[in-house]
Formats: sequence, C-alpha cells, structure tokens
Amino acid sequence: MKAKAKHLFSSTFKSEPTQLAFAPGRIEFIGNHTDYNGGLVMGAAVTEGVIVAAARRDDREIHLSCERGSTVRTRLDKLEPMQGDAFWANYPLGVTKILVESGMSMNCGYNLAVVSDLPIGAGMSSSAAIELATAYALAALFGFEADKADFARIGRRAENEFVGMPCGILDQGVSAFGQADHLVCIDCATEEFSTIPMPEGTHFWIFNSNKKHALVDSAYADRFQECQDALGQLQVRYPQAKTLSEVNQQQLEAAKNDMEPTLYRRANHIVGENARVRAVQSALVAGDLSAVGEALSASHESSRVNFENSIPELDFLVKALVEEANVYGARLTGGGFGGAVMAFTNADFGLNHARSVAQAYSEHFGFEATILHTQAGAGATLR
Ligand code: GLA
Repeated sequence: MKAKAKHLFSSTFKSEPTQLAFAPGRIEFIGNHTDYNGGLVMGAAVTEGVIVAAARRDDREIHLSCERGSTVRTRLDKLEPMQGDAFWANYPLGVTKILVESGMSMNCGYNLAVVSDLPIGAGMSSSAAIELATAYALAALFGFEADKADFARIGRRAENEFVGMPCGILDQGVSAFGQADHLVCIDCATEEFSTIPMPEGTHFWIFNSNKKHALVDSAYADRFQECQDALGQLQVRYPQAKTLSEVNQQQLEAAKNDMEPTLYRRANHIVGENARVRAVQSALVAGDLSAVGEALSASHESSRVNFENSIPELDFLVKALVEEANVYGARLTGGGFGGAVMAFTNADFGLNHARSVAQAYSEHFGFEATILHTQAGAGATLR
C-alpha cells in the first residue's frame, strides 16, 4: 500500500511525497448509535485502511488525488465543501479547515494522494480513515502537535461541521486508538478511550451485504433527530438527563406511556445498547464468550425491531451466521441501513463456513455478499 501511495503521488504530481500516514478502518463491535447519545461503545481498528502521501507546495493551492476519482484542486483560502464526484475531497479538506481553526498555521498549500484497501460501502469507515491519515500527515508537514484524542476530535468535527454528517466519535476514536489484537472502548460522555485484549482464538468475519439504502445519510440524520426528540420527551420527567445514556431502563419504562411509541423504541435501543456494552465488558473479563455473543446478537435484534436500522439482507446474514456452531454472535456493524454484518467466531470458523453463508445469501437475494476475514490492528500513525 505504501508503494502504491507513493506511486499515485509521484505519477499525479510529478514529485515525491515527504510525508506518509496510515489510518485504519474499523469494526463496530457493540454499542450501536450510542456514541452521539453520550453512551458506551466498543470497536476494533482493522488491519485494512488508508495511506495518504503528502508534500508541501510552493503556492497556496491544495491538490488532492485518489485512485478512483479525478484530481481535485482548490485553494487554502477557499475551503468549501465539494459536491458530486469531488465529494470524497471533503474529508481531507474538512480536516484541513479544522486543523487551521485549532491553531495549525499553514503558510502554503499541499499535494495529497489517498490509497485504500478498505472495501467500499461496507460501513468500515473509510471516511474516518481518510480524516485521521490526513490529520496525521498534515500535522507532521506543518508542525502541529496533538494527541490521539485531539486527532479523533478533529476528524469528528470535520465530519460534523464540514461534511455535514452528525456522527459521534466512534469511527475516528477507534481509528486513532486501535491496537493490534485489542478492542477499543469509548465512554462518549467523558471521551475516555481504553483498550481490552481480544480473547485468544477469536476472529472477526465481515460480510458486506453489497446493499445500501438509497438515503443512508438522511436515514442516519433522521435517527439522530429522533434520539434528540426522545430525549426531549424524557426530559419532561427527568430534566436532569442531558443525554439518552443518562436514563436507565426502569426510568424509560416508567415514562413509556407518555412517549410516542417510535421514540420509545429508539430510546429503548440506546438504553439497551449501553447495558449490552457493559454486559460484554464483564463477559470479556470473565472469559464468557457465549455471553459476549448473545449480547452481540441481541444488539442486532434491537436494531431490527427498535431502531429499525437493519435491512432484510443484514437480517438474513445474521440469522444464517448465528446458526453456525462456531459463531458466538453476529450483528450489523456501523450505522446500518445497508453495509455489513460482523460475526465474532472461534478459530474453527473457516472460509468454507463463510462461503456457505454467502452462497445461501446469493441464492436468496440474487447478488453476492463479499467476505472479509480481518483482525484487530493498529491505530493511525505516520509511516
Ligand atoms: C456510523 C457513525 C458513528 C456511529 C455509528 C453507529 O458509523 O459514523 O459515529 O454513530 O454509525 O453506531
């Protein structure tokens, strides 16, 4: 990948990069849509990700190149969101803008080339990976000091304020704090990041449904708004609750009859997810992998019924996977409305098992699911 990034840079810009940075994609292990609700979430960086190659320019222009799109040219003094084919450029440009707002001084523009080995549209956060890799590379190029948590927040702000996606800190936090063979835990209320070792002999298998809701971004924003509305209804009774994660299950049940049924179900998902993240943390400490798996599968069920961010393709994959003896649990991973399912398995789950699930899927739906067997890998770093 490094050679590919250097090659893309030199063939596009006819010069050599002076800085390279890597940032991984991520799996959402458990804690669905809890991040922007002040809750708990666990993820893992994967070994696949993004490498950016960059160098300073002599003028105040910014030139961006990626493998599949056309080169985007803009100016440091005109950082505005792009539309259409150039949309991908909003991730590096948004990060540039937030870095400058955070105090990074830039006396010139830069050239930057992006390569990736993350599957496209699988919900493994290639956008957060571009943000983090860009942030690391630009900070090194322009002499800006920040720690991992700062970089994660900068990436999230780029997404919220420049791209316009109201996401939480999961994707950027995991991409920054990833560690080989470890899960990353985030308390989104305090923005505390920690890691827990992956139990030995456990594996991640990703099944990309290759199906995406046409309005996935607006569906995400709708859920964000519904969570705000649910909180508003709960605050009538619990004015001290600043987020849905400060309401417990008992309080939620007591307020149920005063809530719109849809909003109750959305809140039920968030409150339940926080409890399931805690259950997974304790089960990991106790080495009870079947309890971990049960919580993962229960999370999916709550997505299907309460949050309604699953689709039949993801439900089919989860159902087929949990019937396999070597699968502890399976669930949709990420925002939902398409994307991928993650299976948490023992070492006996192999490609033959994965293929038979994918075979049943393609027979049922008439198109393929893509299989990725991956591992928990390292976080963002200069290369
Ligand atoms: C997307 C967002 C994250 C998070 C998940 C759902 O990946 O980018 O911030 O909200 O969806 O948990």
